[in-house]
Amino acid sequence: MQVLDGFVVLEGLDGAGTTTQLQKLDRFLNGKGKAHLVQAEPTDGPIGRLIRDVLQHKHSVQPWTLAMLYAADRNEHVARIEQEIAGGNMVVCDRYLYSSLAYQGVTCPWEDVWTLNQHYPHPSTILYIDTPVEECMKRISHRGEPVELFEHQEFLTKVRDGYERAFSHLPAGVRMVRLDGAAEPEEIFRKICQVLLG
Ligand code: TYD
Repeated sequence: MQVLDGFVVLEGLDGAGTTTQLQKLDRFLNGKGKAHLVQAEPTDGPIGRLIRDVLQHKHSVQPWTLAMLYAADRNEHVARIEQEIAGGNMVVCDRYLYSSLAYQGVTCPWEDVWTLNQHYPHPSTILYIDTPVEECMKRISHRGEPVELFEHQEFLTKVRDGYERAFSHLPAGVRMVRLDGAAEPEEIFRKICQVLLG
């Protein structure tokens, strides 16, 4: 399995704080003048927008259809990521195929989700913000926004197990760093900087 040096992925449950950390990291890397690209999945491309409509209950599709949509969105995205890495840029991405293994693995056969994603390259570093489900649920409800498809306690508890399964199948050369999501955002960010900059 291919591992892309300079490709960094943030993962965690809904409400875990990946987006906050990604924004901090973006500002930090800009300040350092380090060439980088900030990305997210689902992407803001046409397939990613369709996925967001499903998450917001505008359409309903079968679980396997959604698994294929995430993979199709990723297929377009990977081409861009590979191009950036080849050009010497660092790519930092909010969610990647581990989200598919953890989330779609709840409602679809895990091996099928793995096979669907098996040809995509892995990042050299995964930053997993490990936040207790209860804490995620509290943050989700404080947002005061309409509840999206996966934002339910029982489902996220299964997703958390799904992440553990995904991380036990990492190819050699992929470093997974577990960060305590219950810690203060500044503390988590300090740890991220240590990991990425040594
Ligand atoms: P995200 O953008 O992180 O959530 P938010 O709407 O809070 O910004 O992710 C959207 C949802 O998509 C999230 O519930 C996780 C889910 N997801 C999957 O189920 N599979 C995937 O492959 C990916 C990338 C995301």
